Amino acid sequence: MRMLEKIITSGTAVFALILGVAGSSPLLAADQEGAPKNAVPYVHMNLEQQAAGVARVQGAKFSKEGAQTCVGCHDDSNPYPIYPIFKTKHATLSDDRTPFSHENKQCEACHGPGALHAKAKKSEKRSGTIINFGKHAWTPVKDQNDKCLACHQTHQRIEWKGSTHEFNDVACASCHTIHVAKDPVLDRQEQARICMTCHTSQKAKFYELSHHPVREGQMACSECHNVHGENGTGLRIKATSREKCVSCHADKRGPFLWDHAPAAEDCTLCHDPHGSNQPALLKKRVPQLCQECHSPSEHSANNLLGGSQLGNSAYLQVKGCLNCHNQVHGSNHPSGANLLR
Ligand code: HEC
Ligand code: HEC
Ligand code: HEC
Ligand code: HEC
Ligand code: HEC
Ligand code: HEC
Ligand code: HEC
Ligand code: HEC
Ligand code: HEC
Ligand code: HEC
Repeated sequence: MRMLEKIITSGTAVFALILGVAGSSPLLAADQEGAPKNAVPYVHMNLEQQAAGVARVQGAKFSKEGAQTCVGCHDDSNPYPIYPIFKTKHATLSDDRTPFSHENKQCEACHGPGALHAKAKKSEKRSGTIINFGKHAWTPVKDQNDKCLACHQTHQRIEWKGSTHEFNDVACASCHTIHVAKDPVLDRQEQARICMTCHTSQKAKFYELSHHPVREGQMACSECHNVHGENGTGLRIKATSREKCVSCHADKRGPFLWDHAPAAEDCTLCHDPHGSNQPALLKKRVPQLCQECHSPSEHSANNLLGGSQLGNSAYLQVKGCLNCHNQVHGSNHPSGANLLR
């Protein structure tokens, strides 16, 4: 049997044999830890050289033997684990849309025509002769992403062009790992780690006392953010954030008999979605939070408090305004107009 067919058609058991079952196998180790490290030394090229490189690859021929050619050199002794891709959806032979279906160019569907690369005489010359992916690859991010978008400009990715990540030159491969059995960014437990490598100030927020359980792996950044782009708003979800919030916090959806205007408008007026050192993700502590909008002087409950200023009242201890106004998101009680019940 030819090598590639052997790899593709073999079950996991045989696969394990090829890899050498031991935990010391670089392939298995990479599998367990998530993303492997690039093995090829970073080739430094200026913009002109990059453009020339892309043109050179585009002008090259596809290998007659397809993936067969590639795995001749990039076998399991290669420092970079190539084979786990055969455990992914990209290697579904029966699906005409995948790179490895008979309709497509296999490795070269992503890496571009490889004849020039395969024929290069000295290994030093091989770098820069075929499309490579990720932040440190020689290939310009736009040319990398175009390879993926050739098949994936569907669903959410329709909005990719013009999104904040596209605008900031973030590569698909900065988030997605292709040569692993399970792409970690698609895993709720692993995703945040990837986002946080770039978004360090958000990372810090998630370490504050009150935070959404993202670090704990119970929810993902992408449950609030559409990472590939959002119509008109970049990736900031403010315009639709309330909808996202109440999709999980249904009891706050309303409309209530008595709405509290800000809660009916935008949850982030009072809550920091990522984290806060105040309880319940509050941006400020009560009563200061309330007093950003409500002046104490106009509090008509002053009478109820024996004419004293609310500011001195024992009722403002601990839960502050919430001691009385405990329905701060809205009330369905017939006499809940003041959010007291
Ligand atoms: C004759 C052996 C050989 C063949 C055939 C071969 N490669 Fe390579 N490839 C290498 C070597 C060696 C390197 C590392 C180059 C270096 O270290 O400078 C490499 C590097 C690469 C890189 C990283 C390039 C860079 O500039 O960052 C990619 C991607 C790659 N190969 C994909 C492929 C694909 C896809 C095929 C099939 C079309 C293929 N290779 C065929 C030997 C080969
Ligand atoms: C030749 C077409 C083609 C190319 C090129 C391609 N893909 Fe795919 N990709 C597919 C198909 C088909 C699927 C399976 C979709 C499905 O099952 O709904 C897929 C699935 C995926 C998935 C989902 C995997 C999963 O386990 O659910 C991700 C992520 C992905 N591709 C990212 C990429 C990235 C990043 C690139 C560029 C480096 C890329 N793809 C290049 C066709 C392609
Ligand atoms: C900022 C990180 C990030 C970038 C950049 C990114 N993705 Fe994704 N992608 C994700 C996450 C997270 C998911 C899973 C959650 C989701 O679908 O929103 C995903 C899901 C996918 C899926 C699978 C969707 C499904 O329904 O199974 C495909 C295909 C995909 N991305 C392709 C791409 C392509 C192509 C690019 C580049 C144009 C890209 N992604 C750029 C993070 C990213
Ligand atoms: C769906 C797109 C896709 C296909 C198909 C694909 N690759 Fe890759 N390849 C990538 C991406 C993206 C990376 C960057 C690292 C990662 O995501 O795992 C990569 C990385 C590599 C590297 C590592 C280069 C380095 O920097 O060390 C080599 C070598 C390679 N691929 C060879 C192959 C070979 C050989 C095949 C066919 C058996 C293949 N690739 C099929 C997308 C693809
Ligand atoms: C390779 C680095 C990188 C990775 C990985 C990354 N991002 Fe980003 N992201 C950026 C850059 C750069 C910007 C634009 C500048 C900024 O706002 O920080 C951005 C912007 C954003 C924004 C919009 C900010 C705004 O002001 O509009 C959101 C939301 C976001 N990223 C979420 C995510 C999520 C969720 C993930 C993980 C699935 C992720 N990012 C992974 C680099 C990255
Ligand atoms: C509970 C929903 C939710 C989760 C989970 C979430 N975000 Fe956000 N994120 C938001 C909202 C809402 C905004 C807009 C805040 C605003 O405009 O006041 C935002 C804004 C951002 C911004 C823009 C800058 C800023 O801080 O306002 C970035 C970047 C970002 N989020 C990244 C992330 C990353 C990375 C993760 C995961 C580690 C994540 N977010 C998880 C809801 C969420
Ligand atoms: C994907 C579901 C989901 C989405 C979307 C979501 N949340 Fe949450 N939220 C949770 C979970 C899970 C918890 C933790 C509950 C627990 O620990 O008991 C939580 C907790 C909270 C808490 C209480 C935190 C504490 O320390 O007591 C607040 C406040 C909150 N969310 C506000 C928001 C806001 C505002 C948004 C929109 C920007 C939002 N949530 C979007 C799932 C979600
Ligand atoms: C006017 C400020 C304000 C707005 C706007 C607001 N909240 Fe709150 N939220 C609070 C306060 C104050 C608490 C703490 C209540 C307590 O400790 O009894 C709280 C607590 C919570 C909690 C945790 C306790 C609980 O009741 O489950 C969740 C979840 C929550 N809010 C979700 C939301 C959502 C979702 C929205 C948007 C629909 C929203 N909040 C809008 C002020 C606000
Ligand atoms: C972002 C501004 C804002 C914040 C913060 C805010 N409120 Fe309000 N609140 C409003 C607005 C606007 C109204 C509606 C006033 C009206 O209809 O005249 C309102 C109304 C009320 C009412 C009267 C009920 C009603 O609907 O007329 C009470 C009681 C109330 N707020 C209590 C609180 C408490 C307690 C807090 C702190 C937990 C708080 N508010 C924080 C803006 C805010
Ligand atoms: C001791 C209980 C108590 C505390 C503490 C309290 N309130 Fe009230 N509040 C009331 C009562 C009772 C009313 C209804 C008074 C009325 O109808 O005359 C009221 C009415 C209001 C109204 C509606 C005023 C109007 O003109 O209709 C607002 C706004 C309000 N409170 C905000 C606050 C804020 C902000 C705080 C914290 C700084 C606070 N309250 C603390 C009992 C309290």
